[in-house]
Amino acid sequence: MPVTLRDVQRMKDQGERIAMVTAYDYASARIADRAGVPLLLVGDSLGMVMHGHSTTLPVTLDDMVRHSAAVMRGAEAALVVGDLPFLTYASEADAVASARRLMQEAGVHAVKLEGGAPVVAGVRRLTELGVPVMGHLGFTPQSQHQLGLRVQGKAASEARRLLEDALSLQAAGAFAIVLELVPAQLARAVSERLRIPTIGIGAGAGCDGQVQVWHDLLGLLDGKSPRHAKRYADIGTAIGSVLSAYVEEVKSGAFPTAAQSSTMDEAELAQALAGLD
Ligand code: KIV
Repeated sequence: MPVTLRDVQRMKDQGERIAMVTAYDYASARIADRAGVPLLLVGDSLGMVMHGHSTTLPVTLDDMVRHSAAVMRGAEAALVVGDLPFLTYASEADAVASARRLMQEAGVHAVKLEGGAPVVAGVRRLTELGVPVMGHLGFTPQSQHQLGLRVQGKAASEARRLLEDALSLQAAGAFAIVLELVPAQLARAVSERLRIPTIGIGAGAGCDGQVQVWHDLLGLLDGKSPRHAKRYADIGTAIGSVLSAYVEEVKSGAFPTAAQSSTMDEAELAQALAGLD
């Protein structure tokens, strides 16, 4: 059964923690979906982990539409959220136009956008128009040059503003809020005060759910995982070993064997080659 917004809210209401993971292509979405991950995020982190940029800023709406469409083809049950990239929702009209592309062209179920007070009007407009919106507070990577790569909300004034932003996003109709790099006590306090779920990343165990980046979880980018990520496997090394074995077998002639080959009637071949040489 496809996961719906109601299911996500029910999980919060019943204290069932929500697992979310990023996905950027058909194959990863299919694997995550079949593993029972209820929420997939086509994050603009794809700029870094899929395209090798050092920030999310170069990601375009075209990038997001293309990756999101691939994820949608792989996800049967998961609720898929697509990120609106940098400066594609600076005005209400931009937010509507960008969300239209992600929902109509890629087919995502919801969009995510970063920020507090400055985006609240856009969130309200989108939700009025039937677009489910996930907020994103704390460290917001699209503002990384302004914020610096650091935990947000450690000072009382910052913490208070984050809580007020979360309440404003909720009032504007957001169905969930990502809290990234926020002190665990603050994330817990925000989660307890919100009706809608919080999804943490580097925000401790007091959030209603957690989100992790695919490449970090699986150990696909050697030595590049941030501190708040947990590496559940070292798939990058495993892939490297597989590829080395493949290279060796191609070199030695051990691959391919008859099992990976097809044959033709020898008479047909003789006829085809007749008169040559
Ligand atoms: O782009 C992304 O992957 C994200 C998560 C880190 C929350 O926004």
